[in-house]
Amino acid sequence: MKASSPIRSILIFGGAGFVGSNWAHHLLTNTNAQVHIFDNLSRGKVRHNLQWLHKMAESTRLRVTIADVRDANAVNQAAATATEIYHFAAQVAVTTSLDDPRSDFEVNAGGTLNILEAARRSGNRPFILFTSTNKVYGHLGTQVGSDGVSESQPLDFYSPYGCSKGTADQYVHDYARTFGIPTVVFRMSCIAGPRQFGNEDQGWVAHFAYSALQRKALSIYGDGHQIRDVLAVQDLVRAFAAAYDNCEKTAGHVYNIGGGKANTISLLDLIAMLERVLRVRLKYRFRPARVGDQPIYVTDFTKFTQHTGWAPQKDVRTIVQDICNWYEQNASLFAPAPFVLPGAKPQPDLLREIAF
Ligand SMILES: NC(=O)c1ccc[n+]([C@@H]2O[C@H](COP(=O)([O-])OP(=O)(O)OC[C@H]3O[C@@H](n4cnc5c(N)ncnc54)[C@H](O)[C@@H]3O)[C@@H](O)[C@H]2O)c1
Repeated sequence: MKASSPIRSILIFGGAGFVGSNWAHHLLTNTNAQVHIFDNLSRGKVRHNLQWLHKMAESTRLRVTIADVRDANAVNQAAATATEIYHFAAQVAVTTSLDDPRSDFEVNAGGTLNILEAARRSGNRPFILFTSTNKVYGHLGTQVGSDGVSESQPLDFYSPYGCSKGTADQYVHDYARTFGIPTVVFRMSCIAGPRQFGNEDQGWVAHFAYSALQRKALSIYGDGHQIRDVLAVQDLVRAFAAAYDNCEKTAGHVYNIGGGKANTISLLDLIAMLERVLRVRLKYRFRPARVGDQPIYVTDFTKFTQHTGWAPQKDVRTIVQDICNWYEQNASLFAPAPFVLPGAKPQPDLLREIAF
């Protein structure tokens, strides 16, 4: 792997997204790697992340392919020369998976198999890192112990999203066992930070912060006492780097990755924090709890710390402040979309925005 690849050729599926663009930015600023982003831009606004990367990267080091992971030919072509693959492309919301389980399965499970097969057939044995989810552990009730949830927790896929991501998680893990490809699975809880276009369906910390900044009312699903641990995207980026740098140890492993017990917060406590930080009063109303919503989830990341020395550095308050600062610096990205009459030609400046 590392020794035989002096120039890293890195392919990031979902590289325009929140996690992907932060990882790409790290690679472009701290390494001399060739970075290839593969993304279908289906997540609203992520093209802005690509524009940001294009502005700061030398054009020869950043390549972008706009395509879908369900297109096996496009995936094969992209993966042919990659020495590392980071797979973040996904249908990311439980809610959307309930509306359309088939598309959710085709993207998350089928797309992942396309990537694994492309990697296997390339003959390069690329290092592969896949971002799975804590939803593979199911509802969990209120039984989470004081140290949090470790990798020994039995799998219990819940919701179509839990099933499709869990399927992908198991395939990625098994390609290390069965085909000797150095794969790593991160089962992640809530990640938050700059460049996240969080909404009601996914990315709740950013969604709450943007709603507070825009003085918009929030819906709270459940009683608001659900507890989550939050990890800064900058800390996640450090974890990706640690997984790769220690690949002799990490290959073939699954890790729970999150902010851990020092970084927990309930929904209502986040609202109270935003009210203090922004000096606003938030309006919200309660709605019925959502399917599969865990009452409490806290990550036990001991295994990853033991293998790599990694630990989170940013606390929840700093993460929230980072999101608010990024919003203030990029407020124009959140302006309402211009109204275009049905059948009207797209405006030239909108076209230029997505022409790379
Ligand atoms: N953000 C979190 O809190 C969190 C928590 C647990 C797991 N994850 C996982 O981490 C990964 C990244 O999440 P994120 O928060 O950056 O989400 P994101 O939506 O910002 O990024 C996902 C990217 O994948 C792209 N994409 C979606 N479907 C695609 C397809 N069919 N083909 C090609 N590209 C496609 C989107 O356009 C987007 O740019 C996902 O796999 C997600 O399931 C995220």
